[in-house]
Amino acid sequence: MKRKIVSMPGDGIGKTVLPEAIRVLDAVGFEAEYIHGDIGWDFWRSEGNALPQRTIDLLEKHKIGLFGAITSKPKDVAEKELDPALKGKGYVYFSPIVSMRQHFNLDICIRPCLSFKGNPLNFIRKDGKGGYEEPIINTVVFRQNTEGLYSGVEWTNPPKQVRDALETHPKMKFFKNVPSEDMAISTRIVTRNASRRIIRAGFEYAKKYGYTNLTLCEKPNVLRETSGMMFKEAKEIAKEYPNIALWDTNIDAQMMWLTKNPENYGVIVAENMFGDIISDGFAGLVGGLGFACSANIGEEVAVFEPTHGSAPKYQELNPSIVNPIAMIMSACMMLDHIDEKAKADKIRNAIAKVIEEGKVKTYDMMKLRGSADVFKYGACTTQQMTDEIIKNIA
Ligand code: NAI
Ligand code: MG
Repeated sequence: MKRKIVSMPGDGIGKTVLPEAIRVLDAVGFEAEYIHGDIGWDFWRSEGNALPQRTIDLLEKHKIGLFGAITSKPKDVAEKELDPALKGKGYVYFSPIVSMRQHFNLDICIRPCLSFKGNPLNFIRKDGKGGYEEPIINTVVFRQNTEGLYSGVEWTNPPKQVRDALETHPKMKFFKNVPSEDMAISTRIVTRNASRRIIRAGFEYAKKYGYTNLTLCEKPNVLRETSGMMFKEAKEIAKEYPNIALWDTNIDAQMMWLTKNPENYGVIVAENMFGDIISDGFAGLVGGLGFACSANIGEEVAVFEPTHGSAPKYQELNPSIVNPIAMIMSACMMLDHIDEKAKADKIRNAIAKVIEEGKVKTYDMMKLRGSADVFKYGACTTQQMTDEIIKNIA
């Protein structure tokens, strides 16, 4: 029986890159039926819900989703663009990807950052002897995806009960004279269970793929409670993995080491916001958004997506200029997840060959400004890049 995959292209270039990933999956011989799931701005406008229940039902049923990207806009713009028949009826815009992560508790976000040999966007640094060196980076960031500073528990002008509860903390004395209406609060909630899950997932991954170190990147010297809890759990779980060294870094220092010795880091585990920051940092060393793939994994459902957004300024360009590799590598992560690693490796090898050969490059790989003109300078189209990858599948 063919496996069923929920395909959610979403908005903008999500609609361009997702079909390209499916072409590659077909070419590698992965047999699946792709079931379309509605998601994104059009559904906000016409239904007041960017993640319709029917799409949730599809994911509930088939468990595996491929997702392109969505467009989000500020609150007032969202309200303005809503179908006039729905205006003033209490519809509130929520990002469908955040809603999806919360609904299915997709708490484990995996963001691999791998440098491909020959990628003109790879990070290089001076070697101290008058030359340059290009470290090979192979770091996988495990970002806790559902809580931490992005848990959404926040207030401007906190209600009295919240203020009163906070006043029980001695450190609140520094804010004693600030009226609540001049105060904004975002809470950083970390739970033991979710911490254990992300840390264990990181160790399991390190073990499965042969990484020799796992770094917990937090700030326990300042965020004593939340980072402290994660650190304590990491030390405990590390005992079960004697062959993997547990390192710990502070987020600020980690960003400095990003350019000093990024090649030393294997798996990195962090809370939601810190994971967001580190994974963007590492992605920047290996080619940026055109190469940054990700997985959102829960206990039942898993959704695979590039980290980039819908890049609206490029959505109308025909032919399309954007790089499909981030989406294609996200599809590879899906294959890894469903025990089709051999097919994923074939695709990754093909991508590596195309990049190393260096004949076919999207505009971002040539450091060009995105526009319809890029072909004049030798950039390839989105589809040509996919064709070249398919041609190289051995
Ligand atoms: P973006 O990721 O869409 O684009 C930023 C820039 O990165 C683009 O202008 C382009 O220069 C480059 N870029 C992105 N994808 C690329 C690709 N595949 N190949 C080559 N270059 C690429 O982020 P931006 O402009 O901040 O947001 C645009 C929209 O996307 C917003 O509505 C935002 O809310 C949404 N968004 C959605 C995300 C998601 O669906 N998970 C994530 C980030 C943003
Ligand atoms: Mg981000």
